[in-house]
Amino acid sequence: MTSTAPRSPGARTAEPSAATSATRASGLRARLLQGARQGRWLRPVLLANLVAQVVIVITGGVVRLTGSGLGCPDWPTCAAGSIAPVVHQAEGFHKYIEFGNRLLTGPVGILAVAALVAVLLLRPARPRLRLVAALPVVGVLVQAVIGGITVHTDLSPVTVSTHFLVSMGLIAVSTLLLLRAGEGDGAPRPLVPTAVRALAVALAATTAAVLVVGTVVTGSGPHSGDADEPARYGFDPRTVSWLHADLVLLLVGLLVGLLVALHIAPSTPVARRRAWWVMGVVLVQGLIGYVQYATDLPVVLVALHMLGACLLVVAVTALWASLRERTDELVPAA
Ligand code: HEM
Repeated sequence: MTSTAPRSPGARTAEPSAATSATRASGLRARLLQGARQGRWLRPVLLANLVAQVVIVITGGVVRLTGSGLGCPDWPTCAAGSIAPVVHQAEGFHKYIEFGNRLLTGPVGILAVAALVAVLLLRPARPRLRLVAALPVVGVLVQAVIGGITVHTDLSPVTVSTHFLVSMGLIAVSTLLLLRAGEGDGAPRPLVPTAVRALAVALAATTAAVLVVGTVVTGSGPHSGDADEPARYGFDPRTVSWLHADLVLLLVGLLVGLLVALHIAPSTPVARRRAWWVMGVVLVQGLIGYVQYATDLPVVLVALHMLGACLLVVAVTALWASLRERTDELVPAA
């Protein structure tokens, strides 16, 4: 039986407008999904993920350089029984700096997940790219655990170094992800002769060695983390600094060799341009390194040196990616 009661004018206008907004919402959802499948937001999301991975290294550096490493003496809680710092906690402003860095794991993790989702939604599907996109998510989880171990080992220099070096790996992977998004998903095809690729392998290995020894220099100096009781490797800072600088000289030598090779052997303008970028970053970074060493490590220069290390990882990864190409052999949608 149908109701004969007259409808109020308000009800007459409310019904169509509710239907209209539901239609609009589903239209917007469909447009967003279609955009995501076409990869419209892929590059901005992947770029944001890369920037976040660099930013958290610098904020981690601020924790170290302000001696705030045990500002939150516990993990995952900051003080006993509280996730956030509490006012009566003994650690002064250090607790807020350390907690701020912990909070940043949230946005970094969200951007890593967003990057993975953006790749998963792509059509046609890109299974190989999905594997690369999963790494930042796994890496952020691993870093959260290493961060906890760092606190529980009272800033052991080995865990502080590991924490930094895993971030370098995440920056390399995030750079590769961004660059791979613009390529096909087929097998890689070399664009330079084998000897040039061997030089690039030596360059990447020496870059890794410079980074590892750099963290040993830090762990042997005044900025190893906790302001009151710094835990150190115990090496002579001068000796390890010179070993670090000598490896940089080896890096410059290899880079000169690679640049010459890229100009005389078959290669591409992109590869040559990226190799010059690496040279620019190495020279500026080396200059900052020598100046900070000679001026007793002012914190601003040390922070810039950390940024330089991140940018070098980006530049070397981009150079590496330019030495091969991937075809457009895409896998059809599942
Ligand atoms: C390609 C060039 C260079 C790269 C990639 C590089 C990289 C690094 C890295 C990754 C660290 C450790 C950062 C951390 O643990 O937070 C570091 C520390 C350091 N580097 Fe370099 N470095 C370079 C050149 C140099 C040079 C030429 C010197 C000159 C001696 C130098 C002196 C230092 C010093 C003194 C530290 C310890 C800073 C501290 O106590 O916090 N670096 N470097």
